[in-house]
Amino acid sequence: MEINKIYNMDALELLKNLKDKEIDLCLTDPPYGINLNYDVYIDTEENWFKLMEKIIPELKRTCKMVIMPCCQIARLEWIYKNFPPDWLICWYKGSTGHSAYIGFNDWEPMLVYGKTNTQMHDYFKVQPTPFDNGHPCPKPVKWARWIIERASKENDLILDCFNGSGTVTLVAKQLKRNYIGCDISKKYCEIAEKRLSQKILDLNVLNLEVKQEAMQSEARHSSQP
Ligand SMILES: C[S@@+](CC[C@H](N)C(=O)[O-])C[C@H]1O[C@@H](n2cnc3c(N)ncnc32)[C@H](O)[C@@H]1O
Repeated sequence: MEINKIYNMDALELLKNLKDKEIDLCLTDPPYGINLNYDVYIDTEENWFKLMEKIIPELKRTCKMVIMPCCQIARLEWIYKNFPPDWLICWYKGSTGHSAYIGFNDWEPMLVYGKTNTQMHDYFKVQPTPFDNGHPCPKPVKWARWIIERASKENDLILDCFNGSGTVTLVAKQLKRNYIGCDISKKYCEIAEKRLSQKILDLNVLNLEVKQEAMQSEARHSSQP
């Protein structure tokens, strides 16, 4: 497949075109199955299970390393039963107000399958920053940067087959990695293409994320007794 390109197609179709272990790192962010209002995809819990059953084996076949959120802690039981990961990374994002069994949920597990020749820690802190780029749930630029910097090296080939507004492909390009992006929505692919050609806007987003984190952390410290 041609690299450094965004494909508007179904992830499963795209993966069929890839050879075994052709991708160095797949950093991807599948839909969470929580009824978000996407452009094309219907984000039900039932569809999440169907998608995971098909996508995880194909990602393991085509990628040396896969890192992806599995969304809810409650889904880990199903994941371990069906597709046990080799490791978990803890993404500490601070409580976003979502309820958990014991009250609040401050972190999200990221599944790891396989490994590249890199060494990385398994805990990181990045706060979700609300910003509107036309996609309902863009990941923070810092989130992609933290992982790509550690789990890959220059000129590696990075895949995001649920690329949405293109956070992963943008950061891959900024960090001098090759990339393949894919999303089922033409609208989101166009946003991703636009971000790739307008780096300056995303530097503003990154600065905003850094500023907001500093302010939130200061507010937390000053409210502590
Ligand atoms: C959680 S969002 C990804 C957001 C992205 N990380 C960003 O920063 O904008 C999941 C994406 O998966 C896409 N999607 C859902 N099913 C798909 C499929 N079968 N193939 C390709 N993309 C799909 C949706 O359109 C949505 O944009």
